[in-house]
Amino acid sequence: MSKTEQALQERIKELTCLYEVSSIIVNADAKLLQDTLKAIANSLKKGFQYPDKTLILITTDGISTSTELSIEDAVTIHSNINIFNENKGTLEAQLNASEFKKEDFLKEEQLLLDNVALKVGNMLERLEIQKNELSLKRQMERADRLSILGEITAGIAHELNTPLANILGFAELLKTDLENNKKALADLDKIIQNTIFSREVVKKLMFFACEMPQEMKRVNIIPNIKNAINLLDATFRKEHVKYVVKIEDEELWLRADPIQLTQIIFNLLMNAIYFSPKDGLVTIEALQTKKDIVLKISDEGEGFTPDALEKVFQPFFTTKPTGDGSGLGLSVVHGIVASHKGTIIAQNNPNKGAIFTIALPKS
Ligand SMILES: Nc1ncnc2c1ncn2[C@@H]1O[C@H](COP(=O)(O)OP(=O)(O)OP(=O)(O)O)[C@@H](O)[C@H]1O
Ligand SMILES: [Mg+2]
Repeated sequence: MSKTEQALQERIKELTCLYEVSSIIVNADAKLLQDTLKAIANSLKKGFQYPDKTLILITTDGISTSTELSIEDAVTIHSNINIFNENKGTLEAQLNASEFKKEDFLKEEQLLLDNVALKVGNMLERLEIQKNELSLKRQMERADRLSILGEITAGIAHELNTPLANILGFAELLKTDLENNKKALADLDKIIQNTIFSREVVKKLMFFACEMPQEMKRVNIIPNIKNAINLLDATFRKEHVKYVVKIEDEELWLRADPIQLTQIIFNLLMNAIYFSPKDGLVTIEALQTKKDIVLKISDEGEGFTPDALEKVFQPFFTTKPTGDGSGLGLSVVHGIVASHKGTIIAQNNPNKGAIFTIALPKS
């Protein structure tokens, strides 16, 4: 074969390879990234002068794929894979050092490698953007659902508030009429107790729907946190749960409704205690950034299942056995945080347990 013929053949191989890689990339799917990279590596290999002896290795964020097992002593050329201008991996070609020298790689092969690395980087960028768009869409759908639920809930709560107040009022009136009837009085007490319970549920619903009157003022939240903890000190001890408070600042000022702040901390701590194992540790952290006061409450319990993570802030979502919880605590917290223009996220702690992070804007 003449030199020109050989060069031409190499060029054809290279173009075929580029064409194949491009088609693989067009059809790339984020869920099958490993397979896609493998296919790219296999195509790329065919573009080299000694396809049977060349190993292609692609390494990116967390994924590594190669066409062969490995070459122990190798000569290599490589090219960086950049995602959003940041080096996030490499594309490498290897030959066995016992048979080849680094100079055996052609200049064109380095160019081919660079070209494919660029394409892979672009593909990873595209997949990253797709992923972000999807998660943004999910977040918006969730916020929509929550706000619709909030409106429905506010309606229901309003409708129930008056009749419940009437039931309570008339039951109290009956009490005097039935003074001499012990049995009837006992029944009446049950009616009253249950009505009070229902009114509490309605109150929580109204909190969730931000229908409670709010009294905003400048508060130092540290005493609020300490208060809520003191209120729960006995519960911590009874349930054999330990706690630690990590606050470095002397004061943390914020514009907020102090009662609602206590309500946030109280609800999160009640949950943390409930879901803590015996002798588990609950950590309460508060700090400030330039714009926000950040509150973190974490525990060492089981954390959330993926399903629970989606639904924790929805009213009536509970995994507690019937009678133990109404599933309103976190929806109330969510409502309060939203009315303070803040954000709340629930996550699983990488070690173990749940972690809630609340950010409330300082002004
Ligand atoms: N710290 C936590 N660890 C694990 N799961 C949690 C934690 N906090 C909340 N959850 C999950 O979120 C659900 C909803 O919590 P939420 O406080 O809204 O309601 P609840 O605690 O079940 O009932 P209520 O607060 O009305 O007594 C819980 O049932 C539980 O599944
Ligand atoms: Mg709760």
